[in-house]
Amino acid sequence: MTTTSQPATNKSAKPTDQNDTIERLLAAMSLEEKIGQMSLAQPGEGPPEKTLGPLIRSGKIGAIINVVDPQTIRELQRMASEESPHGIPLLVGRDVIHGFKTVMPIPLGQAATWNPQVIQEGAARAAEEAASVGINWTYAPMMDIARDPRWGRIAESFGEDVYLSCELAAAMVKGFQTGGLDSPTSVAACAKHFVGYGAAESGRDYATTNISEHELHNVYLPPFKAAVEAGVASVMTSFSDLDGIPATAHESLLRGLLREQWSFEGIVVSDWHSIPELCTHGFSGDEADAAIQSVRAGVDLEMASETYNANLPEAVASGAVSEALIDESVRRLLQLKMDLGLFADPYLRSTDQATGPQGEAKETCYQAAVESLVLLKNDNKTLPLSNDRKPKVAVIGPLAEAGYEQLGTWIFDGDPSQSISALAAIRDHLKDGGEVLYDRALETSRSRDSEGIERAGQLASQADVIVLCLGEESILSGEAHSRANIDLPGAQVELVHKMRELGKPVVAVIMAGRPLTLSNVIDQLDAVIYAWHPGTMGGTAIADVLFGQVAPSGKLPVTFPRAVGQIPIYYNAKNTGKPPTPELVTYIDDIPVEAPQTSLGMSAFHLDVDHRPLFVFGHGLSYTEFSYQNMTLSRSVIHPGESIDIRVDLANIGDRDATEIAQLYVRDPVASLTRPVRELKGFQRIQVAAGSTQTIEFRLHTDALKFYKQGQGWIIEPGLFEIWVGGDSNASLHATFEVVDG
Ligand code: BGC
Repeated sequence: MTTTSQPATNKSAKPTDQNDTIERLLAAMSLEEKIGQMSLAQPGEGPPEKTLGPLIRSGKIGAIINVVDPQTIRELQRMASEESPHGIPLLVGRDVIHGFKTVMPIPLGQAATWNPQVIQEGAARAAEEAASVGINWTYAPMMDIARDPRWGRIAESFGEDVYLSCELAAAMVKGFQTGGLDSPTSVAACAKHFVGYGAAESGRDYATTNISEHELHNVYLPPFKAAVEAGVASVMTSFSDLDGIPATAHESLLRGLLREQWSFEGIVVSDWHSIPELCTHGFSGDEADAAIQSVRAGVDLEMASETYNANLPEAVASGAVSEALIDESVRRLLQLKMDLGLFADPYLRSTDQATGPQGEAKETCYQAAVESLVLLKNDNKTLPLSNDRKPKVAVIGPLAEAGYEQLGTWIFDGDPSQSISALAAIRDHLKDGGEVLYDRALETSRSRDSEGIERAGQLASQADVIVLCLGEESILSGEAHSRANIDLPGAQVELVHKMRELGKPVVAVIMAGRPLTLSNVIDQLDAVIYAWHPGTMGGTAIADVLFGQVAPSGKLPVTFPRAVGQIPIYYNAKNTGKPPTPELVTYIDDIPVEAPQTSLGMSAFHLDVDHRPLFVFGHGLSYTEFSYQNMTLSRSVIHPGESIDIRVDLANIGDRDATEIAQLYVRDPVASLTRPVRELKGFQRIQVAAGSTQTIEFRLHTDALKFYKQGQGWIIEPGLFEIWVGGDSNASLHATFEVVDG
């Protein structure tokens, strides 16, 4: 990788009149005004017109964050275009992460849909609502690969898998940027956090990362590449450091890889205060150094802090930073404003009336929510509940009626008054017969007071079935909200055990921002629906699945550990030299006292926990059963550059129509670098009618078999490859083919 600190050459041809305008502006701007364009400010205390107004008028800032009132945004845009030195309009940013007023499931829940189309639509609806108040830039999608459920921001990710994250990140980017950047209903997207943020040690937010060069390229970078290929307008740097270099000052990644190799032409923004934090990292001696290192690395825009304005004029004067680097950043920022249509009309997106929550957005949020629900277990076909016999349903738990909590993390603008709770939707289902008995038992998900458990037990003892609405409140996940213990919090485990004692069927609906460790309750529950934080329409989706209006179709985008001690645990791990055998389970109690030490039969597992996860990546049950048979390959030998077609018969052998997510996994069993035991390389959501069979086809190109090797780039090594197709990452239908050279 090159580290140049040299201005990049302009790769794509823009219309000449746009180039002329930008060059004319650059020629007319003072150095301070240029640096002002590289600064993004928040309103702080007081009305934005007062706090930001003077900075805008004097050309000290070119972008703002966290202003959402449409009239105020209009006024700030007016100041920028009529009263600032060169009339340059503002970038108006906001974290529109999974909806604006109408809220989609958290991104991890969206990932459980394995449906790029609904994700794209959801982002388009969110953009429309956000754009209606004048926002023109969102800080999403977050595409950090997350293999640690302790990390609070796993909620904001698409989970642990590279391929799934690539597909979904690209879909979200396209959704936000629907109709092109100059559409009045689109917003610029931002791929974040470049790069490695999800690998924070022990899942502690902001912690350092340890990522090898190979893992970086094979695991953490591909979603960013996919976002760049999908046309993402901006990239945000990570707070974390990577092999000793904070991401915000990582010149070889920002300039060398992102700009030079990937030809990314959009803007790079720092994270909130991540430039002055270079000093806290111990990488920069002072804020002047931090500003110089960041601009050299290729950060075009500073978020929230002010080191650029304070230090770059002097740095240019002293020759520490060339003015050409500043020009290059400003050129990109002006180009983005041009692309967003802001020069033509700074009020393009501001209307007087904010859009949302509205019918179409709610429909998309409902579809995403219903498809995100993962049926983890369903003993004795406890679900769906029948409402034929007018059942008495006890709805118990702190998250049954929690319109705010079900929205999840990052919902600055979400409107909880629009939320449909699980309780409301279950009542609605039973309004023409049946009865709902409700007690929240615990005030919040963290409550430890067991009095309510007794009371709820008495009520539930009168019911035919118990629906427990459990999980964690939204504030227990998200940024800076990592947990070391990821069991159900508070007295919820006790609540589950109490309900089990009543001898009724117990169904749990679990809302959470991460996989929780459920080992201490799973055997007490007859059925479990994992609902993530399902958003505005969550309750309707939950009730529809509980009562069987819709069969569940979600699949896990992340592995569920049995115990925190297993973390990181993910399906696409390496085999190691001593993989545990499938039958090897918990062992600690079998060890004789004073057993002689031996190295025979040793394998990679913990003595005190089953080495397998509680639920594997890709897992998710339906109300029917699917069977995969007859895998055929179009050829058994292919050459690099060619594709192979894989056909499989997918039969719905149950008695109701349902949707299955068929998954294709690949393994390169012998390579010059050890490769994962399996890697997802394709998936399809297919509706299959009861009793019928559909032939599904995957096309696999040899490019998908490549891996990154230091010094050689992306390579494919000839030899045997294994493939599996099935309904989860344990898929057993298997075949092999060969890749030969020449
Ligand atoms: C987060 C970013 C976010 C930014 C602006 C930071 O703390 O890491 O993801 O976009 O704040 O709110």
